[in-house]
Amino acid sequence: MCGIVGYVGHQSAGPILLEGLHRLEYRGYDSSGIAVLDRDGAIAVLKRQGKLRDLEAAIDVMPAGGAGIGHTRWATHGVPSDRNAHPHASSSGDVVVVQNGIVENYRSLKVELESSLLDRGQGWLSETDTEVIPELIARELDRGCSFVEALRAALGRLQGANAVAAFHRADPSRIYAARKGSAGGIVIGYGDGEMFIASDLPALLPHTTAVYHLEDGEIATIDAEGAVVDRANQPPLRPQPQRVELDPVAIARGPYRHFMLKEMYEQPRALSDTIRGRARLDPPSALADEFNLTDNQLRSVERVLVIGMGTSLHAAMIGRWWLERIAGIPADFDNASEFRFRAPVIGSSTLVVSVTQSGETIDTLGAMDQVRERWGAPQVVITNVDGSEATRKADASILLRCGPEVGVASTKTFVGSLAALYLLACRIGRARGALDETELTESLEHLLTVPSLVERGLQLSEQCSEIAKSYTSAANFLVLGRGIEHPIAMEAALKCKEISYVHAEGYAAGEMKHGPIALLDQKFPVIALATRGPLFDKMMSAIQQVSARQAPVIAIGDEGDTELAELADHYLGVPHATDLLTPFALTPVVQLLAYHIALARGLDIDQPRNLAKTVTVE
Ligand code: M6R
Repeated sequence: MCGIVGYVGHQSAGPILLEGLHRLEYRGYDSSGIAVLDRDGAIAVLKRQGKLRDLEAAIDVMPAGGAGIGHTRWATHGVPSDRNAHPHASSSGDVVVVQNGIVENYRSLKVELESSLLDRGQGWLSETDTEVIPELIARELDRGCSFVEALRAALGRLQGANAVAAFHRADPSRIYAARKGSAGGIVIGYGDGEMFIASDLPALLPHTTAVYHLEDGEIATIDAEGAVVDRANQPPLRPQPQRVELDPVAIARGPYRHFMLKEMYEQPRALSDTIRGRARLDPPSALADEFNLTDNQLRSVERVLVIGMGTSLHAAMIGRWWLERIAGIPADFDNASEFRFRAPVIGSSTLVVSVTQSGETIDTLGAMDQVRERWGAPQVVITNVDGSEATRKADASILLRCGPEVGVASTKTFVGSLAALYLLACRIGRARGALDETELTESLEHLLTVPSLVERGLQLSEQCSEIAKSYTSAANFLVLGRGIEHPIAMEAALKCKEISYVHAEGYAAGEMKHGPIALLDQKFPVIALATRGPLFDKMMSAIQQVSARQAPVIAIGDEGDTELAELADHYLGVPHATDLLTPFALTPVVQLLAYHIALARGLDIDQPRNLAKTVTVE
């Protein structure tokens, strides 16, 4: 999703803005731009459709100036193009803005503002919703407002969640940042005689680890010496920056060809970090510390609803299994964007668990708001980002501690979310008396083996690569699984779609004969997830049905399963896991298959087309 950067200080702003934008590339974008303001009030706006390298190639001479803002745009209103790229200036040319989010009422605002544009003999220069913002600010400035007042008035006119950065020609020593609603964060970075802003920490970390996260409703005025934050109806304050511990090395790609590959290989370590101190054996306890809900509160919960989007929704689906099986509690999962617009029947005894690695996905945040406003139900968030918007909305957070995930495809945060959900099921199960001490010990002992399950799965990379080469030109895949492996089939299909651009469908194998089987022929490969669990025989029947239609079968099952291997065209053996933990054994292998298919097709694995790492628009 769009990314914002800003700089003011003693250095030349242009190169710093471009470097910051490179560090936000992983969020996904289709155009980019910077605007630099020099001491004399000269403004240079440079923007281009395409990748940052296209923008850089178009810059003959880097504009001089110690203040500026920059943007990577993920198109919503108006196609990706040079003219729709940010920054956007007011018709006077004096106010320059970049924006994340959507101005939902931009059409009516354009109509309202049009006459003053026409008076100047001008029209709108882009198809974006963004362009109304600098125009609204400029109108307020003309009425004699200060810049902060003008920005607040302009934001007050916008419907929808928005984050903006801006500057004004009349004041080359300052830049401004503001947040209204949950349109992704803005972090202010404190340097020595220089200040930075960015949508995300990775853009700041090469410069500083002293940061302030701008809150909803705040407007920051930033100069080289610091920031002053204005809140409506409150005196301005100079916030105290906090130190962040993110290690810049952790966000570098290192020897790996792609961030996705690096992050897949980090999974055993990430899982150990998620579980560390939260699965104690003697005496047994799950999530005993750092969790704000008491056993008493958990005992009063009658039902759990797990929500999320994309990969996080697949984790939620598996979470339901564990909540039912381990905690013995009625549980369900839901797609956050659909949940919001139905009339779900939940009450204050429903525990709502949101899974969101970024903690900023707008559909999930919207659902959390609705849960709070309509039912006041207790909420837990499972997220990788401490301080993210979701952590502020929830009553309790389970932080994944996976380290930054840069690849657009969620990998290590998926397995981290699974581990967190499993721990939560154990904690609720123990509080409700569904698990006795021995059963809790056994469940936790099983969980402690998952880093090594994943590690061993990752050793199948070569085999996955060989199989992927046979299917480089396949146009479709069907991925089948049953029971707790059905969500993994869906996750495998999502990974194929998002990084390999292959059409893939994840299905519950029992459903195949009710429609999808009509698609099958020699050119339609089927990936079958078939570990030796309670539904193994049923999976074998499904594979027989696939083979009878001559569709090639890639079977993933237990190591040494000759019966399965004989039935399949290709076979990948994963380490044996207890039937509740097979998702951990299967996940690295389906990730590797999708990765190698994308690699064989020569695709941009870390920044797939049209996708954003954090989806902050509806
Ligand atoms: O940050 P979140 O976990 O809330 O993100 C939800 C989805 O956008 C995300 O899982 C998406 O599906 C991933 N790109 C999948 O790899």
